[in-house]
Amino acid sequence: MSKELIEKAKNHFASIVEAQLTRIEEMKKDCQWTDYTTLNPIIIGLCWGDGIGPIISKHAQTVLEHVLKDKVASGKVVFRDIKGLTIENRAECKKAIPDDVLKEIKACHVTLKGPTTTPQAGDQWPNIESANVAMRRYLDLFANVRPVRIPQDNIDWCFFRENTEGAYVLGSSGVDVSNDLSIDFKVITEQGAERIIRMAFEYAKKNNIGRVTVVTKSNVVKTTDGRFSKVAFKIAKEYPSIKVDEWYIDIMTAKLIDPARRSDFKVFVLPNLYGDILTDEAAQLQGGVGTAGSANIGKKWAMFEAIHGSAPRMVIEGRDKFADPCSMIRASAMLLKHIGFTQEGKKVEMALEVCGQYEKKMCITGRDTGVTGEEYTKYVLGWIDNPNLETRWKEESKL
Ligand code: IPM
Ligand code: MG
Repeated sequence: MSKELIEKAKNHFASIVEAQLTRIEEMKKDCQWTDYTTLNPIIIGLCWGDGIGPIISKHAQTVLEHVLKDKVASGKVVFRDIKGLTIENRAECKKAIPDDVLKEIKACHVTLKGPTTTPQAGDQWPNIESANVAMRRYLDLFANVRPVRIPQDNIDWCFFRENTEGAYVLGSSGVDVSNDLSIDFKVITEQGAERIIRMAFEYAKKNNIGRVTVVTKSNVVKTTDGRFSKVAFKIAKEYPSIKVDEWYIDIMTAKLIDPARRSDFKVFVLPNLYGDILTDEAAQLQGGVGTAGSANIGKKWAMFEAIHGSAPRMVIEGRDKFADPCSMIRASAMLLKHIGFTQEGKKVEMALEVCGQYEKKMCITGRDTGVTGEEYTKYVLGWIDNPNLETRWKEESKL
């Protein structure tokens, strides 16, 4: 009996190794970065998602349309509505992303995506893979970039979360060897680690930041985290003016809430799962996960989203209109900057910061104790159009 089980597990493992070796060959191919300046029009896909997704994405779309009015009018930018990335449709097709939806996403240059429900064993949905994880893999969106800024505490962090490997990429490919034994797999490749770590160092160099912090648990998870750490120190040699230090994920979660030390950190680079966890903590310090956006960047495509999930409980309790749209609006700002509309993106970011951290005339609480997402979006739009935006932002932002 056990011989048979071992044989089955071995075959499963062999197929995983084979797929990863193929992926490495793909990564080795020299694929060019998309040059958005040459695109006409730039096509922006909009996926609405589940739970609070449609409502907060709508608010983000309002902001995008507002700041891109001229570009849409001249035909330089086209929005494309992509339906079908809903849990109902995905459950019916039994696919993380139905084929036709994936085709539509690939036909856009960038996508703004609302949060999508991730099924879990025992809930009402078939236990299919997360749409986020699948999209990151299918489009090879290897860098998950998540900025968090709290100027009054001197905090200006940028997280570079590896997005196509770690415990995530094989998260739906584990094996129940027997009734008693379950095994998951975690993968780190030399090429996968190199590309995200290099991106973090390039960001530091471009922004005159003299330090990059690598977060692992390489003292315990010796093989995969060990490789990530080794690659980081190897890449660091190419950037002699940037200091590199390695922290373990446990102490790093503590340091983020240590007022005496936390503002010393600037750029973080870390494997997938640690990045997932640490960025929720960082976002909470900024004002909640509803305030943080996430850029999923690959060479060919890019996708922008909130860092949080679809909050179905808010919908069930009738509180979706009070959901914070700032995460999606911030994601939109990142999208704008990524496709070359730097001024527009910067304006949206400054307005979000003035509203959420300085003026604070309105407050979002997720319930009727605060304003609705629609009211808050109008508040942000007011500041986007305010001629004093930059002056006000500069006065307050001491960073
Ligand atoms: C995130 C989210 C996703 C993740 C979920 C929704 C699958 O938490 O973007 O951080 O775990 O990556
Ligand atoms: Mg997360």
